[in-house]
Amino acid sequence: MMERKLSEDYEEVPCDSANAVVEGCRLPVLMRSGAEYQMAEILSIKELAAMREYYVHFLDFNKRLDEWVDEKRLDPSKVFFPKKISPSRPSSPVAGDVPTLPLLATTSSTPSLNKKKKQGQKRPYDEIDRSSSQPPTPAPSPGPATPITLIKEEIPDLLSGGPATPAGQGAATTAGPRTTGSLMMHSNDDVVTRMKNIEMIELGKHRIKPWYFAPYPQELVHLPCIYICEFCLKYRKSAKALERHLLKCKLRHPPGNEIYRKNNISVFEIDGRKNKQYSQNLCLLAKLFLDHKTLYYDTDPFLFYVMTQLDNRGFHLVGYFSKEKESSEDYNVACILTLPPYQRKGFGKLLIEFSYELSKFEGKLGSPEKPLSDLGLLSYRSYWSHTILGILFTHKASGDQERPQITINEICELTSMKKEDVISTLQTLGVISYYKGGFVIVLTPEMGKNHEKSSRLTKIDPKHLHWTPKDWSKRAKW
Ligand code: ACO
Ligand code: ZN
Repeated sequence: MMERKLSEDYEEVPCDSANAVVEGCRLPVLMRSGAEYQMAEILSIKELAAMREYYVHFLDFNKRLDEWVDEKRLDPSKVFFPKKISPSRPSSPVAGDVPTLPLLATTSSTPSLNKKKKQGQKRPYDEIDRSSSQPPTPAPSPGPATPITLIKEEIPDLLSGGPATPAGQGAATTAGPRTTGSLMMHSNDDVVTRMKNIEMIELGKHRIKPWYFAPYPQELVHLPCIYICEFCLKYRKSAKALERHLLKCKLRHPPGNEIYRKNNISVFEIDGRKNKQYSQNLCLLAKLFLDHKTLYYDTDPFLFYVMTQLDNRGFHLVGYFSKEKESSEDYNVACILTLPPYQRKGFGKLLIEFSYELSKFEGKLGSPEKPLSDLGLLSYRSYWSHTILGILFTHKASGDQERPQITINEICELTSMKKEDVISTLQTLGVISYYKGGFVIVLTPEMGKNHEKSSRLTKIDPKHLHWTPKDWSKRAKW
């Protein structure tokens, strides 16, 4: 796909130095780990003390790996120009005229992509390790398998034999930008918002490197660090200014109602209308780690569920999800985030579990707002697979049934998951087979072992949830 795009819209032009490289070009760039060259697009070029720096986006990688690199990391022997600005086009400037920025001497020639890239080398990204996160695929059964009969009328898309849609993405992936949302999809993906603009934030005891652009006020952007009060989320431009703020700020927990507490984990419900400033600051902070959504300042239609960890200094923000007060599409999560220092410790799945517990209390089925990010999809797939397998493994045959029987609707009712998420999860798990004119789910002992191994220690305990759902449709105004 990428190759096709490169060949259609781009033209390879031999260059002997990085000087010819202009914004919009694509060429191999050495990744941060130093192990591998990857094709990248130059989004911006700046000059610092007579040195050129290039802001690059690696084409097949998530934007959080975008960064400023110096010319030593570029491989100018394989530069692709967009056809409209290609130096080889008669209507475009000729090769010698192309660079729009002052020419600088190249110090070293960079080895070519083919020379550097070792065969079978693992991608050096510190980010998604997809291999470890794939749901278990049913291996040939080493022992007796557990079949469960599935009612066939309920899975029409399985009958059609069409390709499985990735769980959670479905048709909604192609949906256009939403018109409501505390965060919604980018309407214009301009170069400014494609580039990270904040170097660092300090939040409580954590220093965190942002992943994406966030529209903090202009005077704070490009400072070495933005200092954020971890309790009220107000931001300051220096440590001194934050110190002064902390003397006045009495908050030691998020505003709103604490609706859940078990051990040191609490969840606060915050109304986006009643606590507008906190909610907006939370969205702004979240934008640093959410790429496919853009800020929307009207937080009134949203509730925010903020998860904290308690110690003797207060309730520390771990993550949150937002939820529309009324969702015509049955979304039970708009945006979800675990702050990077707390990621990969199970908090994402805890937040997801919490969102489904709320749906259970409401007596509704729910699903996260689409599209999901790469990490969002991984987390949801993992949660859905684990939850559904948990039900299937404990489901017993009743009465004189030869084997346990279950319907998709029953799984939905037990989990509050929407039907399409249940079906796509079963498809992704690859557990459904057609057998003697009907559908059966076949679970192998191997899957049972994997399921037990991946059980989480911390789970939401509904007994500790003190919450009554509100019917927002009956209220004249949120
Ligand atoms: N690489 C590989 N796997 C990962 C990574 C990673 N970087 N991060 C999480 N995972 C996997 C975990 O291994 C786990 O899989 P497993 O159950 O098979 O072990 C699963 O994802 C969930 O892990 P958790 O620790 O429960 O989740 P975490 O606390 O890391 O939070 C979240 C997940 C919320 C998606 C987090 O990565 C995040 O905040 N990302 C940035 C914002 C974002 O993308 N949000 C989702 C947008 S979609 C939406 O808002 C509806
Ligand atoms: Zn404060």
